[in-house]
Amino acid sequence: MAAKVISGKEVAAEIRKELTVQVAELKEKGIVPGLGVVLVGEDPASVSYVTSKAKGCQEIGMFEETVKLAKDTAEEDVLKVIDRMNHDPKISGILVQLPLPAHISVEKVIGFISPEKDVDGFHPVNLGKLLRGEECPLPCTPHGVKQLLVRSGNDPAGKHVVICGRSNIVGKPLAAILMQKAAGANAVVTVVHTGAKDIKHYTLQADILVAAMGIPHAITADMVKEGTVVVDVGVNRVPDDTKKSGFRLAGDVDYEPIAEKASFITPVPGGVGPMTVTMLLYNTVEAAIRLNQA
Ligand SMILES: NC(=O)c1ccc[n+]([C@@H]2O[C@H](COP(=O)([O-])OP(=O)(O)OC[C@H]3O[C@@H](n4cnc5c(N)ncnc54)[C@H](OP(=O)(O)O)[C@@H]3O)[C@@H](O)[C@H]2O)c1
Repeated sequence: MAAKVISGKEVAAEIRKELTVQVAELKEKGIVPGLGVVLVGEDPASVSYVTSKAKGCQEIGMFEETVKLAKDTAEEDVLKVIDRMNHDPKISGILVQLPLPAHISVEKVIGFISPEKDVDGFHPVNLGKLLRGEECPLPCTPHGVKQLLVRSGNDPAGKHVVICGRSNIVGKPLAAILMQKAAGANAVVTVVHTGAKDIKHYTLQADILVAAMGIPHAITADMVKEGTVVVDVGVNRVPDDTKKSGFRLAGDVDYEPIAEKASFITPVPGGVGPMTVTMLLYNTVEAAIRLNQA
């Protein structure tokens, strides 16, 4: 079987088109969704993520403000910026770009964002709501995985989803999303991690297999049964002398042989990656709507 490729680029473009229409309609009602981004330091990857978030906002007609702070900015000064954004009616969603310099507590910073404006969905209040099945912003990367599945005709309902990885930003929230008794979820979920004695034992049982381990090509073809839907969250740099940069991006899945067995597969790059920023835009629009209903 040759797998159908689920293009994150195409699904993301479809969602951004929907958001552009929604933002225009909101503006007619006097509501302008706005994203506030806080960047501390000049880590090149973070600068590039922040730039693509700002560009995404502009593309769909949203307001955007990026505050760039020096890497030695005191924690209390970062909190002051968040406090200002918490109270700014032009800002419906706040995103603090991670990682933060070591002298700043990530927990403190995330906990300081107003839960109503927490568009990353990482605030403990929102993670609690997620687990309880209450309305809340869904963390962006797992939300993107759900959208890729549903919009490619692979509704997880009643399926066995095996997630490899239990990080707070991908594996755990994805498990919480897909196990809910809700539309586009209602799956039987297994989460594997380094505590599993034999992950192949579990991956071979998957109807939908999600790899989020951060290890290039950790999932090999012998670990996947025929017809599985394979979602590769991994983005890993592997050395490649043929590239000017000296590296290329590789997923957690050994793509070519697995594409021969899977029914659907996401590529890297161009799979889950483009969905993350798009779901951030989605969460910001939803936050603007909720704030104006309050
Ligand atoms: N496309 C996107 O937008 C996006 C967003 C976020 C992350 N990512 C990518 O997704 C990947 C995962 O990111 P993350 O932040 O979730 O990583 P992480 O925090 O490093 O977590 C990795 C998880 O995989 C598990 N794991 C690692 N090696 C394993 C093994 N050999 N067998 C079983 N489980 C194993 C770990 O288990 P333990 O808990 O037992 O240590 C951990 O739970 C990375 O490549 C990252 O770049 C992509």
